[in-house]
Amino acid sequence: MNLELCDKKSSETLEVIFVKNKKIKTNKKLLENLNFKGEDETSALLLESKKLYVGCEKNDGDSIRNAASTVIKKVNSLNVSSISIEAGENLKEIIEGLELGNYKFDTYKSKKDERKEKTIELVVKKVDEKTIKIFEDSVNVSNSINMVRDFINTPPEDFYPKIMAKAAKKIALENKLDLKVFDDEYFEEKGMGSIKAVGRASRHGSRLIHLTYKPKNAKKKVVLVGKGLTYDSGGLSLKPSDFMVTMKADKSGGCAVLGILNAVAKLGLDIEVHGVIGAVENMIGGDAYKPDDVLTARNGKTIEVKNTDAEGRLVLADCLCYAQDEIKDIDLLVDYATLTGACVVGVGHYTTGIMGNNINLNNKLQQSVTDSGELATVLHFNKFLKKTLKSEIADICNISNTRYGGAITAGLFLNEFIKDEYKDKWIHCDIAGPAFVEHAWGYNPFGASGAGVRFTVEYLQSLK
Ligand code: BES
Ligand code: ZN
Ligand code: ZN
Repeated sequence: MNLELCDKKSSETLEVIFVKNKKIKTNKKLLENLNFKGEDETSALLLESKKLYVGCEKNDGDSIRNAASTVIKKVNSLNVSSISIEAGENLKEIIEGLELGNYKFDTYKSKKDERKEKTIELVVKKVDEKTIKIFEDSVNVSNSINMVRDFINTPPEDFYPKIMAKAAKKIALENKLDLKVFDDEYFEEKGMGSIKAVGRASRHGSRLIHLTYKPKNAKKKVVLVGKGLTYDSGGLSLKPSDFMVTMKADKSGGCAVLGILNAVAKLGLDIEVHGVIGAVENMIGGDAYKPDDVLTARNGKTIEVKNTDAEGRLVLADCLCYAQDEIKDIDLLVDYATLTGACVVGVGHYTTGIMGNNINLNNKLQQSVTDSGELATVLHFNKFLKKTLKSEIADICNISNTRYGGAITAGLFLNEFIKDEYKDKWIHCDIAGPAFVEHAWGYNPFGASGAGVRFTVEYLQSLK
């Protein structure tokens, strides 16, 4: 797909008409005969008048993204080489819909479906500095999301912690970011017994990846921490087979952080952004950590392991400690994790669970999520659920003593590793629902969606 920004459509191209609010204004009779009513995700092609009508039931940003995604899916099935879309005020949403809707993951198909290159003219009133910047930013954010989708969709034998560090290196080199990568030796030296235990039974050594984007005169310092479980078998508390499938996607939080750093650098935001990723594989074997073990995290807290499948919080505990020790004066600390099945049960597949101690901050982030076209809901902490993490023999237990409220108790576990000075600056995002879905939804394909990238970029752009 080749996107072109222009102020006039060329005469030969197929013209896309978005039918808003089901109000068809031209070619009414013909479209009626084709049974086209302007509904979402439907289209009608009028070859003679060279027009493609596409339904867009509402006029909000996300409906437009969806309509643009419908356009590219339809156009890919047609034998046309160029189309034009009147982008007007919705240039950003149209580009995102086209780029995200056009994504396919066919790396492992021996026969790829060959798509003919299409030129898409995006017609705006004036091609000036402002529209060019919107155009480039939207392409960069979309490409970052599609890169994240590729990472997540890649099978665990081809994407393990060392490969994740390699991917970080490529992003660092391309964008002139600073990169530090640590392994077990460092974990041992710094008393990071929690992350260390989770990866112990894997053939693939664990890594902690720290990327830094540091522009001159940054007005804020933001730290993003990601759960990068390149595979989660559950460990000795082994997952049943049906639940193990898709656990290659347990690296989605870490991959989102890679994508955000890539996007932020390309956009040239005036914010210092750090990405800290715990890249680990949770496996079984004679060397595996066990239920009943007591681990000591970097901040000295002891953790009684009652379930080795609650491993993400163990990895994040040490990553959060690392971030707060090694990065000074943080203004905002956000973590991203496919942390709990409970979050998916509670809010469904498409929605991120936002948690934290600062209600205002949670609500602000939720607003950015909505503005970006992603979905999120705030889940509130409470002191009664906090008590369910009590351990008789250690400072805290890695699972709660009740099976209810599992997304919140996991968030409360992480809260134990947040220093007092950062309690109100921290947000936890449970992306277990939207990160990987086994069917297409809107402009998201089967598999990885790239959840977290768009809403974070939106939030960072809104910071004054
Ligand atoms: N990676 C899983 C959570 C998950 C489940 C993500 C489904 C995406 C889809 C996590 O490590 C896990 O296994 N959590 C356990 C916690 C439990 C043992 C307290 C869970 O959710 O069952
Ligand atoms: Zn698990
Ligand atoms: Zn996990």
